Amino acid sequence: MRIRPSSPHHVSFTDRLRSGYHRVWYEASQALRWSRGTFRERSTGTLRKLSPSQLQRVDELADTYQQRFEETFPPETAFLNYGYLDLLDRAKHDLQWSIPGGQQMCDLGSANFAYAAALYTFFQPCQLTGVEVDGHRLYCNGRSRFDYARGHIQDLPHTDYVVADYRTHHQTAQIISAWFPFVTPKPLLAWRLPLSLFDPSTLLSRAANNLVFGGTFVMINHSLEEAKVAHHLVEATGLVCQGQFIHTRPLRPRSQPAVLTLWQHS
Ligand SMILES: C[S@@+](CC[C@H](N)C(=O)[O-])C[C@H]1O[C@@H](n2cnc3c(N)ncnc32)[C@H](O)[C@@H]1O
Repeated sequence: MRIRPSSPHHVSFTDRLRSGYHRVWYEASQALRWSRGTFRERSTGTLRKLSPSQLQRVDELADTYQQRFEETFPPETAFLNYGYLDLLDRAKHDLQWSIPGGQQMCDLGSANFAYAAALYTFFQPCQLTGVEVDGHRLYCNGRSRFDYARGHIQDLPHTDYVVADYRTHHQTAQIISAWFPFVTPKPLLAWRLPLSLFDPSTLLSRAANNLVFGGTFVMINHSLEEAKVAHHLVEATGLVCQGQFIHTRPLRPRSQPAVLTLWQHS
């Protein structure tokens, strides 16, 4: 099949050059595995510059889930967690989704797992694992994603962060989540990753294989368009769509609504 230059799947010569550049950095960080130890961001105990409606929703979530993220995290990380929790909470009501709690959960492509607390609060898992292929990436302050992730999960019992390629990660779970997996190549390049990591079919097939029967795969995509592409890819793994929620009233303004889809084995 010929992919037109205007298609989101098109990879130009410049993209390949960029990919080569990202590959050098990616491989260097993998070889170096730099870590300065667990890095804990400081909480200021407050949230910053929220509108009255945002504050109201934050209070609602904090009351419902008995969780104040700002007591543990700095304002940006705390608000990010409220944002993820807001989406999950609204989807739960809209889809009448029941979450049993006490299940084994795995999140794929977790970046620095800044949102682990939101997952923990919502799903109440007996075990939570975040899997990230680029976990040794270095930040400007000399800390790595791994260092941050260790700090983000420090207070969460039975939670870990694994630097691994999920395509070859064998770990069964009753809940598997994927927040914004790459389903077209451009966003992957924008995240400064090499095209060799662009393999959504294998990634999502692994999720389907790791999902126990009766378990739920929760996928969140950036837009309806992206969700459509992702839908075909997950369908091809044999999982069956159980419902879709469009997050039209997000806590943080977005250019397009995020889309949450629930999947199970037939
Ligand atoms: C768009 S980012 C989303 C990050 C995070 N889920 C969030 O919500 O902020 C996608 C993430 O998936 C990771 N990723 C891509 N391919 C992967 C793979 N094969 N195994 C594990 N992680 C992968 C990337 O490194 C990146 O951190």
